[in-house]
Amino acid sequence: MGNAEIDEFVEHVTERTDIYSVVSRYVPLTQKSGRYWGRCPFHNEKTASFSVSPDKGLFYCFGCGAGGNVFKFLSLIENITYFEAVKLQAQRLGIELPTKKTSPEQERRRREEKILLKINELAQDFYHECLIKTARGEVGRKYLAARGITTETIEAFKLGFAPDEWEALLKKLMRQNFSPQQLEAVGLIAKRKNSSGYYDRFRGRIMIPIANIFGHIGFGGRVLNSGDDTTPKYLNTPDTALFNKRNLLFGLDKSNRAINAAGAAIVVEGYMDAISLFSAGIKNVVATLGTAFTPEHAKLILRYAKKIIFCYDSDEAGQRATLRALPIVQQIGAEVFVVKVPDGKDPDEFIRKHGKVAFEELIKNAETLVDYRMNYVLARTEYGTTAGKFQALQEILPVIAKINDNVKLKDYLKKIANALSLDEYLIEDKWKKLSSTAEPDINPAVVKRKKLDAEKNPQLKAACEDVIRMAWDEGDTLGYTLAMVPLETFSEVYQEIIKWIENCTAQARRPDQMSAATELSEAANAELARILMKGSDTPREQKLIVFDDSVNILRRDLLEKKYKKLLAQSEKDIPNDEATRIKIVEELIKVKTEIDKLKGNPNCF
Ligand code: UTP
Ligand code: MN
Repeated sequence: MGNAEIDEFVEHVTERTDIYSVVSRYVPLTQKSGRYWGRCPFHNEKTASFSVSPDKGLFYCFGCGAGGNVFKFLSLIENITYFEAVKLQAQRLGIELPTKKTSPEQERRRREEKILLKINELAQDFYHECLIKTARGEVGRKYLAARGITTETIEAFKLGFAPDEWEALLKKLMRQNFSPQQLEAVGLIAKRKNSSGYYDRFRGRIMIPIANIFGHIGFGGRVLNSGDDTTPKYLNTPDTALFNKRNLLFGLDKSNRAINAAGAAIVVEGYMDAISLFSAGIKNVVATLGTAFTPEHAKLILRYAKKIIFCYDSDEAGQRATLRALPIVQQIGAEVFVVKVPDGKDPDEFIRKHGKVAFEELIKNAETLVDYRMNYVLARTEYGTTAGKFQALQEILPVIAKINDNVKLKDYLKKIANALSLDEYLIEDKWKKLSSTAEPDINPAVVKRKKLDAEKNPQLKAACEDVIRMAWDEGDTLGYTLAMVPLETFSEVYQEIIKWIENCTAQARRPDQMSAATELSEAANAELARILMKGSDTPREQKLIVFDDSVNILRRDLLEKKYKKLLAQSEKDIPNDEATRIKIVEELIKVKTEIDKLKGNPNCF
């Protein structure tokens, strides 16, 4: 599709999109003074500083500075590009993507992708029907019933059963005109090894559909009896164009709202753990797909909540997996907690035995990362020997190296000293040596915040915001603004916004949210959204009066700074030659006169 068509398409989607309904899918919002408020999905907070203004079509978080229009929101929360966000919203609204003028290759890929999603969906229907309606599904029904899985859960997760036949799905989908190549591309069938033709990958298995935001993309299939070792307990869709275990979390499509509302996600190891917890009413749960926890997984969760609670199996393998996952999560800036399931191997067994309340109690008492790692090391320490104790110390100290809460630190040092029966001061000494070399934590969010707070003087800040708002409404005012207040006077982020609006004006196009979101840096776009949201619907004449004021405030500040500088300079090194001296004095007088003029009559320009 050409540029014009893209613009038209984006405009069409924008028109039909209401930012409130989009955001409230992810964030519970309540109304207060013409805006909606909720807890920010992009950083962890207890009070609502995330606001949505439906009439302006913008969101802004006063806590972390994230902001922009509806597609910016979608792209941040779903971790997709801006245009993907437009496409996602179009898909949700049932708006067809324009097809004209795409390259044949793009067009082919787009069609193929759609087909692959469709195939997965049809396969899911087939397996589901098979489980709930057919005689072939009887064994599946019995198996699930024996595991206490209810009809509601079967429906909620659209669980299915793959009949124990070689070509059931293959034949069914070929009758619907899909080619074996297409079915193979989504991993539902495989090529026969010794003869020509294909066979169903999943046979005689309970089928668990896996989805991401775009739709159904794969399956996990469980054998009915784990007794025989000839086939794996779970068979998953192989990695395909659509399906990649590294960046998929089972259940997230269902649990994202609950995760956001709870401010935390519980990560479990198994499909059955997630299904079981979800059905018992613990809805903020996701499961990895039998692979290690990756940074991609962490980022997926961080879209919805800052807190990640690991609840892996209580066996050694599960605990080791937990330990491996922790640094990844911590690095990415999540708050990490660990729950150890005390009775029963995994969360599924635990909640069946003890119920929802008992599980909630476990979550409440989740250990922090530091406690967990410390206890893990202590539990494995050879207390009999000094060498064993020092070995343990060496492993523990790095864990607490970054604690900067003194009271907490003392507690930990005491705990370690007691556990290892070593002198507390000796431990503290070792800790000091280590922590002085440990790398400081750098949280990008904090760095960004500092930058945004550059304008410390609220009056100046308000004036900057006002001239930017004016420039947004009427690009031509910028010429005047910049003549009075040079670009360099503004902070980096404001400079970026102003330059961009200037550019738009030069190209005779109106700046709009759409181009702002794609052409500005994240920080500038968010700041612009914040500024625009503060705008009111006052009449133009009034706006112009305020605008004049703002320019004057900025200019006065500029001149006052200049005056101070000149004065300091002239006092520091008095020039020898008369001519230069006079020049400086003249300059000083000129600046002073203008300042006085600005003070006396703020609207004289
Ligand atoms: P578990 O064996 O703990 O799974 O493996 P589970 O969900 O508790 O299964 P049940 O309760 O015995 O039915 C954890 C996860 O590892 C992956 C699956 O994603 C599984 O949910 N896995 C396990 C495989 O991919 N293949 C396997 O053969 C086994
Ligand atoms: Mn299990």
